[in-house]
Amino acid sequence: MSTPEPILEATCRAVEARLGHVVPKFYVERAEHGLQRAQAVLKAPSLEATLARLESLPIGSPAWQSLIEAITVGETNFFRHREWFAEIKNTILVPLIEERRKRGLKRIDLWSAAASTGEEAYTLAILIDELLPDRRDWTIRIVASDINEAALATAREGIYRPWVLREVDPAVRAKEFTEIRPSCFQLSSRLRQMVEFKRLNLCADLYPDPATGFENFDLIICRNVLIYFTPAEQLAVASRLARSLAPGGWLAVSPAEATAQWYKPLQVVNSLGAIFFRNVAGEAAKPKTARKVAAEWRHRGAKPKPAAPANRAPAPAAPHQAAEPEAAPPVTGEALSLARVMADRGDYQNARQLCEAYVAAAGPDFDAYLLLATVCLESGDLRAGFEHARRAAYLDSESAAACYMLGTISYRQGAREVARRNMELVVKLLEAQPADAPVAQYFNATAGELRASARGYLGEPIVA
Ligand SMILES: C[S@@+](CC[C@H](N)C(=O)[O-])C[C@H]1O[C@@H](n2cnc3c(N)ncnc32)[C@H](O)[C@@H]1O
Repeated sequence: MSTPEPILEATCRAVEARLGHVVPKFYVERAEHGLQRAQAVLKAPSLEATLARLESLPIGSPAWQSLIEAITVGETNFFRHREWFAEIKNTILVPLIEERRKRGLKRIDLWSAAASTGEEAYTLAILIDELLPDRRDWTIRIVASDINEAALATAREGIYRPWVLREVDPAVRAKEFTEIRPSCFQLSSRLRQMVEFKRLNLCADLYPDPATGFENFDLIICRNVLIYFTPAEQLAVASRLARSLAPGGWLAVSPAEATAQWYKPLQVVNSLGAIFFRNVAGEAAKPKTARKVAAEWRHRGAKPKPAAPANRAPAPAAPHQAAEPEAAPPVTGEALSLARVMADRGDYQNARQLCEAYVAAAGPDFDAYLLLATVCLESGDLRAGFEHARRAAYLDSESAAACYMLGTISYRQGAREVARRNMELVVKLLEAQPADAPVAQYFNATAGELRASARGYLGEPIVA
């Protein structure tokens, strides 16, 4: 490797921050190769300049995509692990179809998240096609997403080498695939049309969201991607996936990713040769507040409140329910107050350490992340500050304080569009609040003050 160590490290950090990936030692060469490809795309004078440019570019830009192509692993095939898909069919799809028929609701929503070149999503299409002879009378939505545009382009074409068809039933293979070039088989357009491919970074807080249609799924398959993520992203992505399920909906991950506590409050369903998670009470669809998440971590094992699902059937009892995960570690309650005192005194390093220890012991905590964001901002670590503010906003998406912090840090980073969006959100979130209402304990500010300050940012050239 000829690239200087600090540049390699910065590349790995950029990959971690934007894609959520840990870059293990044996992958550093791929990151290096990706950075070189991005440099060629950008025609940048140096690798340092490439890194700096990447920071402000969106994930969909050609430069990021060339890095993503180098760093991601797209390994997949049709009916990957046949017995696992047999369980998807028998435990999930067949009962779901029966239940929908009984209710006269002929609609099914499925999502293959991190679908790579589409084999998993098309496997679902093949199964649905087989199970629904009257498919024309149904509304079937199969969404497939991935971060890698090149993989999605291959998926849309639906042309495959024989190797990835090895687990397809020979009769289906003969009926649905046409050899259009030597050793290149295209899936029938009738089945291709069943799947809609979209680019989505699972680590971006863009789902569940009615605006993008990523919500209310009866089944989400997300296999062999969480393993690449940092622990914080694993938890955040798992929670977003859980909240993207319809009441009664199912989440299917690979056995290596079936860590029950990531998907709380989903219920574990052990099936033959597969572990699934289910949104039995519809609880996961509700937005989480900071207090709720913190309470969940502190009192693991507490049962979710049953919710009355709107427009959806109550979930039938899960066939084989497993036990709740074990209890959380004890929480050191005074750590945050002490960290706040330290921060007020300007002792940012110790305040940060204490907050980090608190999160490690207590789990995700809105107040801790907000304080960490402030401390990092004050000590000039904007990147970490942004990440912590993002986590706080993730835990309480309606917190004006978290949005204000995101806006302030983005502004300092020069990310004007992000800053503008967040400050607009602050104004919107505080719109209905009386001017003297307190916003959040930490800021010690009123709604009127924070609103005025956010408007101040919006009035500056950052809106341009
Ligand atoms: C090993 S493939 C998994 C394919 C399929 N799910 C399976 O198990 O057969 C992993 C996929 O995750 C995608 N991926 C990696 N990071 C991602 C992210 N942050 N958001 C969305 N997709 C991501 C990669 O592009 C790749 O296509």
